[in-house]
Amino acid sequence: MRRIAVVPGSFDPVTLGHMDVIARATKLFDEVHVVVVHNPDKHALLPIAQRVTLIEEAIEEAGISENVVVSSWSMGLLVDYCTDVGATVLIKGIRTQLDITYETPMAMVNRNLAGIETVFLMPEPGHSYVSSSLVRQVASLGGDVRPYVPHVVAKYLQGA
Ligand code: PNS
Repeated sequence: MRRIAVVPGSFDPVTLGHMDVIARATKLFDEVHVVVVHNPDKHALLPIAQRVTLIEEAIEEAGISENVVVSSWSMGLLVDYCTDVGATVLIKGIRTQLDITYETPMAMVNRNLAGIETVFLMPEPGHSYVSSSLVRQVASLGGDVRPYVPHVVAKYLQGA
């Protein structure tokens, strides 16, 4: 049986922490869908189509494109996307205890809704403090975001 997993998120923008989790997921599953989801609770910097393009370029740059599909979802429940593509697992990156507190209710609801299991993966400790919101703030104030994001994202944000 082909094992398909979905890595969802706002990815506004994709960070090295996200890339680390995506790369780990590609080693565990036959097919990995990285799905950009509109999160109405967050004020967005980049349009969804741009986030998708940057993830595609970063995945190409990282050499892990073989079993990765990048897409977006704004049609309702994330589990419906999972069911549509035959995915049985959601992957979430966990940096700190705060992430576990935030992710646990979503994992329970997604399992109750459609039997989709959530697998938590830990990124490299060096990425554990990196977040898209910090990157957005550093970029908006003219700081150097290159330590935190793939080259293509740094180039897009600041012409690095
Ligand atoms: O990167 P983020 O913003 O923390 O990702 C959160 C996201 C997009 C994964 C989450 O908000 C989500 O799953 N949204 C889809 C809507 C949905 O299915 N909600 C019900 C179950 S949580």
